[in-house]
Amino acid sequence: MIVLVGFMGAGKTSVGRPLARRLGRVFVDSDEAIADATGEEIPELFQTMGEPGFRDIEAAQILELLDGPEVVLALGGGALSSAAVREALRGHQVVLLDISLTEALARIGGDAGRPMLARPDLAAIYAQRQDHYRQAASIVVPVDGRHLTRVVKEVLSAVGAADVEE
Ligand code: S3P
Repeated sequence: MIVLVGFMGAGKTSVGRPLARRLGRVFVDSDEAIADATGEEIPELFQTMGEPGFRDIEAAQILELLDGPEVVLALGGGALSSAAVREALRGHQVVLLDISLTEALARIGGDAGRPMLARPDLAAIYAQRQDHYRQAASIVVPVDGRHLTRVVKEVLSAVGAADVEE
């Protein structure tokens, strides 16, 4: 499985869709899968069950997806807070789309669809997540100031090179 991870705004969905197309695979976004499974959008889930409730649903959904058919899978930015998810990612091709907090906020600041953006400790959350992202990733692609097409190309070639080595 090719799995895209990284902070909100890194472009996991925007990169994942064309990447999947080029690889002839289906693209799945964990947030969309959660919304499909629960019939509720992410902000509603945060509101009704709080972040811990959302994280439980998120982890269960991702474990199921990782167990399923080979797709290109984009994970929500906080998905690696689950130890079970981190463990399940081992052995998969995990691509970190590496974005600075400044650029992430410039891209998505004020998006009401992302409840975590309202957190006053967002900078600390960003910092805390970096270790998990980096430990999980087999490929790290910087995205700051770079066009989507260039990022897609770089991921494609990194994934292709990794395939050849296997
Ligand atoms: C979250 C990121 C979101 C979504 C939810 C929580 C986070 O996904 O899962 O709002 O904690 O960083 P994106 O990274 O796709 O925005």
